[in-house]
Amino acid sequence: MTLSQTAIVVLAAGLGTRMKSRRPKVMHPLAGRPMIAHLIGTLRELDPNRIVVVIGPDMPDVAAAVAPWPVAVQQDRLGTGHAVLAAGDRLRDFAGDVLVVYGDTPLLTSATLRRMLEARHSPPYPAVVVLGFEPTEPGGYGRLIVGAGNSLEAIIEAKDASAEQLSIRLCNSGVMAIAGDRLFGLLDRLSNDNAKGEYYLTDIVSLARRDGLPCGFVIGDEQELIGINSRSELASAESFVQNGLRRRAMEGGATLTAPETVFFSWDTRLGRDVTVGPHVVFGPGVEVADDVDIRAFCHIEGATVAAGAQVGPFARLRPGARIGPAAHVGNFVEIKNASIEDGAKVNHLTYIGDARIGAKANIGAGTITCNYDGFFKAHTDIGAGAFIGSNSALVAPVTIGDGAIIGAGSAIARDVPADALVLTRGQHTVKAGWASAFRRRQRAAAAGADHEAVLTGEQDRQCERAVEPFERCLHYSSMA
Ligand code: UD1
Ligand code: MG
Repeated sequence: MTLSQTAIVVLAAGLGTRMKSRRPKVMHPLAGRPMIAHLIGTLRELDPNRIVVVIGPDMPDVAAAVAPWPVAVQQDRLGTGHAVLAAGDRLRDFAGDVLVVYGDTPLLTSATLRRMLEARHSPPYPAVVVLGFEPTEPGGYGRLIVGAGNSLEAIIEAKDASAEQLSIRLCNSGVMAIAGDRLFGLLDRLSNDNAKGEYYLTDIVSLARRDGLPCGFVIGDEQELIGINSRSELASAESFVQNGLRRRAMEGGATLTAPETVFFSWDTRLGRDVTVGPHVVFGPGVEVADDVDIRAFCHIEGATVAAGAQVGPFARLRPGARIGPAAHVGNFVEIKNASIEDGAKVNHLTYIGDARIGAKANIGAGTITCNYDGFFKAHTDIGAGAFIGSNSALVAPVTIGDGAIIGAGSAIARDVPADALVLTRGQHTVKAGWASAFRRRQRAAAAGADHEAVLTGEQDRQCERAVEPFERCLHYSSMA
């Protein structure tokens, strides 16, 4: 069926006091993005004509998270009906279907909302369609009072319900589809004469029935309708979302060795024949191409990994990491804002930040790009096929030409031409037999023996002459 014109009101002005948080409840993240953004993403699948988000007076973050959709500010939180009235300026002229959803119910699907709109446009053409569900614990939910022929007669809030009404299992999820040309005529007649002293949106059902308008309901799935009011409910919702994302990854052709230990963000994209080992966390903004092997214990965020690359175990890819085709990033390697081009290898204990590593370059263990001077970041450029010896410090800004070789243990602060060898090691001095002569002398001195008596041969005497200055060094270094 083709949908008629649709406007959606999202209620998000509540304080979420049970979260015990400084941030508005709907800004708490699920799979790496605020729950309100999840909901807006779902609502957009319906291609609505309008979305209006009702927020409280001090919620600029929520306004930013839902932009470009507009917000309406509900100055005083006088109830869910009052909240929809706050969106009146943007909706009173709207004659299509109005959907009302709650910002703290982020797992709702567009398929369910479509079923509600379909019900609105099927006999008996109800003016109000409510999404009902049968929770395991009906507790504080509003109860649906259903009459003959499945006609919805009223919604009774738990606090206003009789014992008999409380035994009804069919509850109000909070989602409603309403005929736009009827909505404000009903809302304008709400009263707050009830247990909470609030203007309940739910009362529009009995008002519509009094006007002789039909009202109906559809039934939804409990897990999809879970409302998030506390940190525990947030954790349950996260686990539900993660299971869905794991399933999606596997259905898309990725192998997850231990799916329950892999955590995705809402936007993680994996290609086919990607293997993800145990205990891998994907932050937002990650795209992984086909045939990539991500080994155990990696943390990856804001990064792209091209086909055939190998990452980990124990690798960290930070925002701006671009791992090229068939490149290798190994254990205890951190990459930030850097591209590792085709087939390059950065395999052990290395930090690469603000850099380009050319194709097939080899970065030795313990290499560090020194990209930050405490004030500014600087770039390191390593040419194709270059070889950086282990434990080198590359002091940016610096360029290493194609094919150059940097000797192990170098500190490179000047550009290196292509194909050159650079060695920056200190002098290598060998004093044969020095160590044993030194030990003998020290042992004797410690025992209070005559110094000269300890020296037995010419070799020892030679060593003795050398001991003095070296000993000083040794002494200083042990004091450092
Ligand atoms: C509401 C329903 C109840 C339903 C339950 C489902 C009413 C009167 N009751 O109760 O039938 O079973 O949801 O979860 O609607 N909000 C505002 N402004 C306000 C008050 C609330 O924007 O002045 C927003 C909240 O941010 C929240 C939503 O409306 O997103 C629901 O409000 P809440 O107070 O949680 O309603 P419940 O008591 O749970
Ligand atoms: Mg609630």
